[in-house]
Amino acid sequence: MTRAVYPGTFDPVTQGHLDIVRRAASLFDEVIVAVAESSKKSPLFSLEERLALVKADCAGLTNVTAEGFTGLLADFCRRRDVAVVVRSARNASDYEYEVPMALMNRRMAGVETVFLTPTPEVQHISGTLVREIASFGGDVSDCVTSATAVALTAKFQKRGD
Ligand code: COA
Repeated sequence: MTRAVYPGTFDPVTQGHLDIVRRAASLFDEVIVAVAESSKKSPLFSLEERLALVKADCAGLTNVTAEGFTGLLADFCRRRDVAVVVRSARNASDYEYEVPMALMNRRMAGVETVFLTPTPEVQHISGTLVREIASFGGDVSDCVTSATAVALTAKFQKRGD
């Protein structure tokens, strides 16, 4: 049985991430979507909010679960007996950013990183752009699920941005 982890900040989870989750779920017996605290990125949504959105969006996938984590991904992999880390590579700059992490995680925890490429229909989606468009009241309904779109609207109304 191969257990894989798909880690990220998921601030918030997008259709791009969900495409990768679905691909991973079809390749591995079990997939854990691991939502990182990522306090250095000062996320828009709290860890609890990000995790709740991921859980809601993955509810229909029977071999997918979601968990929050703090600290090193390598420690999470050891704790949860994870063999494979799944990451998404949309373009060359994603790959450049990812390779050092993959090498380090293999050194620290012996885990292999598998890169999946998203379907072209969602390749343009980026967390930063989704947050920016939503902050100006723009329509992000083709980038995120309706639950996440509602959460974005509520977040920016509350902040008064
Ligand atoms: N579709 C849409 N967007 C995607 C995407 C896809 N398929 N794949 C990546 N992205 C976007 C994200 O939305 C995000 O965009 P943003 O920065 O504009 O918001 C960006 O690409 C990267 O974010 P994410 O995939 O969430 O990764 P991350 O860089 O925030 O987090 C961790 C990476 C959590 C895996 C890494 O920081 C980690 O392991 N942290 C734990 C601490 C640790 O172990 N550090 C040592 C690592 S060796």
